[in-house]
Amino acid sequence: MSLPPPSSDTAALVTGASSGIGAEFARELSRRGHQVVLVARSGDKLAELAAELGAGAHVLTADVGHPAARAALPDRVAELGLSASMLVNNAGFSTLGPVAKSDPAAELNLVEVDIAAVVDLCSRFVPGMVERGRGAVLNVASTAAFQPLPGQAAYGAAKAFVLSYTQSLATELRGTGVSATALCPGPVKTGFGERAGFAEGDFDGALPKVMWVSAADVAKKAIDAMAAGKRVVIPGAVNRVGAGLAQLTPRALLLPALARVHPGLK
Ligand SMILES: NC(=O)c1ccc[n+]([C@@H]2O[C@H](COP(=O)([O-])OP(=O)(O)OC[C@H]3O[C@@H](n4cnc5c(N)ncnc54)[C@H](OP(=O)(O)O)[C@@H]3O)[C@@H](O)[C@H]2O)c1
Repeated sequence: MSLPPPSSDTAALVTGASSGIGAEFARELSRRGHQVVLVARSGDKLAELAAELGAGAHVLTADVGHPAARAALPDRVAELGLSASMLVNNAGFSTLGPVAKSDPAAELNLVEVDIAAVVDLCSRFVPGMVERGRGAVLNVASTAAFQPLPGQAAYGAAKAFVLSYTQSLATELRGTGVSATALCPGPVKTGFGERAGFAEGDFDGALPKVMWVSAADVAKKAIDAMAAGKRVVIPGAVNRVGAGLAQLTPRALLLPALARVHPGLK
């Protein structure tokens, strides 16, 4: 398995390309010669990135939390004279705090962006890839996918969904020329912590330095894993060990310990 080759009529569609890991996916794919379709709500940031990347970068401003905006994406890509040879479902965010104090609208928006958009866009773009016998999907989960996460309950469950869904998709796609890979990063310095509402130092300070991988390295490792046709990639040796231990530790021990230290439950 290898990545679909770059061409004048194909592109990688990257959601959440306006910052953090998504912007680095766009940079790395562009560096490897692929055209990129940049999707997010912040059109100004996407335009800035497109200017940096040059003529092979295209901007489609969209809120992937809205079903109608997602439904419009295939036609908008076709209007650019392109088909999506790669789909990177990266847009995502977390809420923070106990469910008992949660905002229902924010929780449902998380489900739309972190779960529904992944499923919807795979359903819309994978059939064309299978028809053409070539394609690659990357769905961004998290190391939070490997155990429940009290304090970010909806986020942990959403990422567990993405991991499970992508592993099934990868298995179904065997022999079609299309791959699916779940990316499970540990902590990465981006706008993520602030957007979730972590207090200054709580996100960075709560997790040991050895777990942190830069957004550029995460993107590079993820694209290498896609190219190798891997089902799951966890950047960073410490995070791989942590994910293994999280799956093996009895929930009765692990969950109270996680709840005790989670900044969202203080
Ligand atoms: N940073 C970490 O520690 C970490 C760890 C594990 C997994 N992840 C995952 O990595 C992915 C990227 O996050 P990041 O760390 O790069 O955070 P980030 O810097 O906050 O980037 C999030 C991206 O998602 C986009 N987005 C959010 N809601 C959207 C919506 N409704 N429609 C379209 N785009 C939307 C944002 O763009 P706009 O605001 O412009 O729409 C932005 O481009 C997420 O799925 C996150 O869960 C992050």
